[in-house]
Amino acid sequence: MVLPKDFLWGGAIAANQVEGAVLEGGRGLSNVDLLPIGTDRSAISSGILEHLEWDDEHFYPAKHAIDMYHHYLEDIDLLAEMGFKVFRMSISWTRIFPNGDDEEPNQEGLRFYKAIFERLAFHGIKPLVTLAHFDVPVSLIKRFGGWRSRHLVDAYVNYAETVLKVFDRYVDYWLTFNEINILLHSPFVGGGLIFKEKENRQHIIYQAAHHQLLASSLVTKLAHDINPNNQVGCMLAGGMHYPYSCRPEDYQEAINRDRENYFFIDVQARGYYPAYALKKLERQGIVIDMKKDDLDILKETVDFVSFSYYSSRTVSGFEEDYEETTGNLFKSIKNPNLASTEWGWQIDPLGLRNALNQLTDRYQKPLFIVENGLGAKDMPDENGYINDDYRIDYMRQHILALKDAVEIDGVNLLGYTSWGCIDLIAASTGQMSKRYGFVYVDCDDQGNGSFKRFKKKSFEWYKKVIKSNGEVV
Ligand code: BG6
Repeated sequence: MVLPKDFLWGGAIAANQVEGAVLEGGRGLSNVDLLPIGTDRSAISSGILEHLEWDDEHFYPAKHAIDMYHHYLEDIDLLAEMGFKVFRMSISWTRIFPNGDDEEPNQEGLRFYKAIFERLAFHGIKPLVTLAHFDVPVSLIKRFGGWRSRHLVDAYVNYAETVLKVFDRYVDYWLTFNEINILLHSPFVGGGLIFKEKENRQHIIYQAAHHQLLASSLVTKLAHDINPNNQVGCMLAGGMHYPYSCRPEDYQEAINRDRENYFFIDVQARGYYPAYALKKLERQGIVIDMKKDDLDILKETVDFVSFSYYSSRTVSGFEEDYEETTGNLFKSIKNPNLASTEWGWQIDPLGLRNALNQLTDRYQKPLFIVENGLGAKDMPDENGYINDDYRIDYMRQHILALKDAVEIDGVNLLGYTSWGCIDLIAASTGQMSKRYGFVYVDCDDQGNGSFKRFKKKSFEWYKKVIKSNGEVV
């Protein structure tokens, strides 16, 4: 058998993309609740357009999502039927602290997650909990400007301490921030940042990054103090950059662009700011506001490195007329050697094996693939059945690649949680029609539908994969 006996097979979701019920149970508003579907989404996500109130002109998919708030028992039972060993989920900060920094936690929010953990425990499924998955309380954005303010460090640490203690008996695996490097690419989504005219955006982003890195280290330490069994991970929006050609300038650009993203993980996994980042900040005239002990705080490093992988990216050191494509909020030159999904994300299973190797070489820590999957339009047949062979094929190729990384390259891999194991709303576009799940949810892009759940063909396939510990793919 290639994979270790205790390999953690499962799937992943995020609170804001599934729960809905955004104002129920005493919950407060979060940044991502305010992202509408349609043309303004991108400007709001990047912090250029301020949009901190709902209006009647837009449709906000997070308001209902897939209504997991009212379906969680049925949903978890379905995941259990597939034999899940682990379920990656996030806690919504504003369900616990509606304003982000309230004096007391919201008991109804705590009860909701306790019920989820109880159900998972009933099925013997381990939770892997992301503390902040694109989740900044709107009240903290209005009062402090999001993560640009150091106040967010205290508020986040207090929130994390609360849930680490209350849910200690249920959870061993924690992630501090989902795709922490998204702060660079989508600053409102990653950090609740909104820029005023003439502000130095890079300065604000790196100040916010410093605050998140501090918060991550403080929480890692807290988690270890609360329970030495706690395993804390960082989380990278992964996928390395390829040089478009073998011109040295293209290769150099690929290294530089990889480093932009690795910067965060370098700090979280190694415990200090890397020299290339210090030099870059210096060149840009950016002086990060730090307190005396900050560099010591950062020395607390994570136990494992987790990442999402959908695609590799391609870059060039030259400004030429390249055909571009998109992928997980990153722009990329279209790689002529790869096929693309309906959304232009390029399919590169070998890139997953290479990413696993690169991360192992760089960090020498256990790895965890916490997102991977195919976003596609699923069309039910006349009986309502979804024959998603394309999804099975995508996942099969990626699972074979990760097995090679373990068997041939000796990578230490803890587990694999496919993204959106039950259909959910897409983070980039807000569309329901971009589906990733083994379970179909009857709901369209405008929130119409019965919200009933149906098993797709991939449901039975993944069940066999898990049962055979990846031997049968
Ligand atoms: C990652 C996020 O960026 O990619 C998820 O962590 C997101 O929240 C996933 O859903 C897939 O992206 P999209 O835009 O297809 O939902």
